Amino acid sequence: MVDKVLLITGASSGIGEATARYAAQKGYSLFVTARRVERLERLCTEVNSQGGKAVYDAADLTDLSQINAVVGNALDQYGKIDVLVNNAGFGRLKWLEQLDPLEDIARQIQLNLISVIQLTRAVLPRMIQNKGGHIINIDSVAGFIGIPTYSVYAASKFGLRGFNEALRREVGVYGIKVSGVYPGSVDTEFAENAGIERKSSIKTPAWLQLNAHQVGRSIINLIQHPKNQVIIPGYMTYAVWINQVFPGFVDQIMRIGFVQKEKQ
Ligand SMILES: NC(=O)c1ccc[n+]([C@@H]2O[C@H](COP(=O)([O-])OP(=O)(O)OC[C@H]3O[C@@H](n4cnc5c(N)ncnc54)[C@H](OP(=O)(O)O)[C@@H]3O)[C@@H](O)[C@H]2O)c1
Repeated sequence: MVDKVLLITGASSGIGEATARYAAQKGYSLFVTARRVERLERLCTEVNSQGGKAVYDAADLTDLSQINAVVGNALDQYGKIDVLVNNAGFGRLKWLEQLDPLEDIARQIQLNLISVIQLTRAVLPRMIQNKGGHIINIDSVAGFIGIPTYSVYAASKFGLRGFNEALRREVGVYGIKVSGVYPGSVDTEFAENAGIERKSSIKTPAWLQLNAHQVGRSIINLIQHPKNQVIIPGYMTYAVWINQVFPGFVDQIMRIGFVQKEKQ
């Protein structure tokens, strides 16, 4: 076993679950959370039966009291949290006027941004006391590039990128690292829950999609070799650069290639 405790949110599926499984193989001790108890229980049973160490606590992270309870229970269990992986999140990828003000807009900002901030704030005092720790926030390429139908999701992930940068500069003096992970499209339950409705047949080709294990491996590599940010797959760095340097050109591509086709 490695003497490091990881708290991973959103571990009941997709990137969070894959990260937990990979971390367990590498010998980290896990404290995992999400809302679906049976999924968490299955994950922990499997990890523990294979000689790993995993404990779960089911919680809805849009509720501050449940966030504080998760952190308290993790500290009671292990006495420390070395790495916080803020991964829980969802997207509602529709035109803004179609989004429900509370369920789609407020809840998305709440889970993807405010809950991440609250959970980090709850974990931070112990990391400061221990003079070290690593906060890894799962952002998105949508935290660099605004895509039509991603307006609120992009707002949450652009916001998270700002949080990563400012917090990194704030807590570096305590030996605490902050990293942002920016994946492109990943084949998980995310898309099923996004309420995507397309008139045209435009969709991300399968060969462009990552799988959750690739992202999980990057997250665990980041613990061993810390960096401020990881854009995955690496070639997405060029898309981010083009968008920053030629925003008008990207506006035109998205208008002609996507919005006009969908809105006709
Ligand atoms: N898939 C992609 O294309 C992609 C690309 C870039 C970034 N990301 C980011 O990667 C992260 C993980 O997404 P994923 O692709 O792995 O999707 P996923 O399979 O849908 O996983 C989302 C996780 O978040 C948890 N969650 C959702 N609402 C919650 C709540 N209110 N309280 C606590 N946990 C909650 C879910 O568990 P329960 O339902 O059991 O609560 C689940 O474990 C997200 O932050 C997402 O924005 C995804």
